[in-house]
Amino acid sequence: MGKRSTVSMMDVAALAGVSRGTISNVLNSPELVAPATRARVLEAIEKLGWVRNESARQLRAGRSTAIGLIVRDISNPFFSDMARGVEEVAAAAGHSVLLSDSARDPDRERAALDLYQQLRVGGVILAPISPGDRGLSRRLDIPVVLADRIGDYDDACAVSVDDFVGGQVAATHLLEQGHRRLMAVGGTIDIPHVRERRDGASRAVLLGDAEATLQVLSTDRLDIDGGRSAAAAIGAMPDDERPTGVFALNDLVAIGLLQGLIFRRVAVPDDISIVGYDDIEFAAAAAVPLSTVRQPSLELGRRAAELVLGEMRALEDGEPHRHIQERFTPVLVARSSSSRMSPLSHTAGA
Ligand code: RIB
Repeated sequence: MGKRSTVSMMDVAALAGVSRGTISNVLNSPELVAPATRARVLEAIEKLGWVRNESARQLRAGRSTAIGLIVRDISNPFFSDMARGVEEVAAAAGHSVLLSDSARDPDRERAALDLYQQLRVGGVILAPISPGDRGLSRRLDIPVVLADRIGDYDDACAVSVDDFVGGQVAATHLLEQGHRRLMAVGGTIDIPHVRERRDGASRAVLLGDAEATLQVLSTDRLDIDGGRSAAAAIGAMPDDERPTGVFALNDLVAIGLLQGLIFRRVAVPDDISIVGYDDIEFAAAAAVPLSTVRQPSLELGRRAAELVLGEMRALEDGEPHRHIQERFTPVLVARSSSSRMSPLSHTAGA
């Protein structure tokens, strides 16, 4: 005990023959440190029995250890999975997480940021509504990590998936199943990265087949009701104009659409195939298991938490910090809601 309380980071640095910054990097961003140096630092930590004193660090910084998380729609399991990932990593590092739902309302997002600023949380993870807000972290004087969106500026750490590629993957899958009348359904498309999904699908159709077309059907919301209203609109279309392959811009829309189509006796996948986006748990559990483009929501949350904790520690230790922006690649998960059509069926007005 005596040993642990008197040993400082300086002692570890002296024994390992490195700077305090290198020690911070070993603890926060080990990938930045050469393996031999990393081993030397870990050996010195072990030998001296040094334990980083979290409460002293907080006192110095005048901040709480809490991380403020702001999601866009807490009723969407994509965000509860992401929150679980944040919580897992934060709890393992001894930090608590406060949660706010902006419900896609910019005023609520601003109010949550103000609240976290007043509470002097150690860091914020934000799933933003708008494409980017230059200097947000500096204005709040709190490290801010963007999750589920790489902002337009590189002045914040961020973690997301490549939504353009995700849209391409979804449309390519439908084209490969023989569909030529495609439709992208969902959203008012005011969320930039959701718009990128549609743009990716559009590119795949453009490059994929001269006969293929992509209609776009906007819905007021990216939720189950949005999907149900899309089903009503598609159900009212003449047979020869109806899409045979639909890319729903998220799984909630896909599930509402599936229910609405079944209710109207439109068979899925025989009459209309559906591909969603996210791979929430309910996608596999739907009445017709849903093909979808998988986003690693849990992993996004974990990584966002690692990034914000890294930035918080660098700030407290007075060390430089380099913003990291990571993009995961989305992958297709093919299930029963999309299936290969017979080569003639799409020309027969089916
Ligand atoms: O907020 C809408 C969507 O954005 C979610 O369903 C998820 O796809 C996220 O990326």
